[in-house]
Amino acid sequence: MSEPVVAAKSPFEVEVEAGKSYAWCACGHSKSQPYCDGSHKGTGMVPKVFKAEKSETLWLCGCKQTRNGPHCDGSHNDL
Ligand code: FES
Repeated sequence: MSEPVVAAKSPFEVEVEAGKSYAWCACGHSKSQPYCDGSHKGTGMVPKVFKAEKSETLWLCGCKQTRNGPHCDGSHNDL
């Protein structure tokens, strides 16, 4: 299994809709950040799928170093 690459050194602000499922890119290779576009194929990594509990604004991790995926935990500040 390879390590995730840094897609961005800051989180992505996104609007999510209650009840809808999203696939957050965990590998960093997606061209559709912060979501998975299938580019993880062959990396041994998979996206983290989550369902929005309510409609809200979220900050999804862009550096892929978070320990609280898909959410930003401030790890980009250590890069
Ligand atoms: S493209 Fe990164 S997890 Fe799918």
